[in-house]
Amino acid sequence: MNQFNRRNFFEAFAGAAALHAILASGALASPPADLNRWAQDVADINRALAQGRMSPVAWQQQIEVLNTGIALSAIARYLDFDRLTKAMAFPSNLAETKDPKFPATINVAGIERPWFLRFFGMRKGGAIIPHVHNNMVSSHLVMEGAFRTRTFDRVADLPAENAVLLKPTLDKTLNAGGMITMSDDKTNGHWLIAEQDRSFTFDVGLVNLSKTRTYAMQANKYNMIFVDPTAAPDGQGLIRAKTMTFEECQAKFAP
Ligand SMILES: [Fe+2]
Repeated sequence: MNQFNRRNFFEAFAGAAALHAILASGALASPPADLNRWAQDVADINRALAQGRMSPVAWQQQIEVLNTGIALSAIARYLDFDRLTKAMAFPSNLAETKDPKFPATINVAGIERPWFLRFFGMRKGGAIIPHVHNNMVSSHLVMEGAFRTRTFDRVADLPAENAVLLKPTLDKTLNAGGMITMSDDKTNGHWLIAEQDRSFTFDVGLVNLSKTRTYAMQANKYNMIFVDPTAAPDGQGLIRAKTMTFEECQAKFAP
């Protein structure tokens, strides 16, 4: 194990150990104290990532441990999911969003990068249209409904072709409790299509992560590049995905 992997391993282990302590204490049966612990853990890994004390891949591992280790219904109550999403009417096949907040008692000081908590909701057929990201991490936990979920590793940028080279990493239906994550280092691209009406994800993300990592293909102000991943894979299973404007991508994937 090299130094980098050792660090990832011990960071992931520390998170799992903390979660084990929560489970062993039986605290999960008595919200909100355990949910406060969960929220603080989420804030703490965001701070560690933003300050460069945790790698993006370790953050992906940690957020998955945290968000799949607590009952969805408890997260929903804690973040006021029903009230925030109840008015969503879904007039189009694009997602609607609402941002929940952690209680003021959660210490979020010192998280040196912009970060967000966000519910995404869609009607059946609605989509998070396909895109990759620059200098960002995010996680996507299915709260209700189901999504056909595709993820991709971003193997290379191909500026001469206005494309990125993608390696498909997942194509499956995720139901409530299912989760994906992305970073610059692992599964950088994703595409979700709701398979049921009122399908929702809960997302945690941080943007503008690195001042030194640069890409040949530039992202929009939301750190996103829309792409078309439907080209046939080559002999190595790689897809040349042309970049698209938001309007082009919406017209093709969320008409
Ligand atoms: Fe995304």
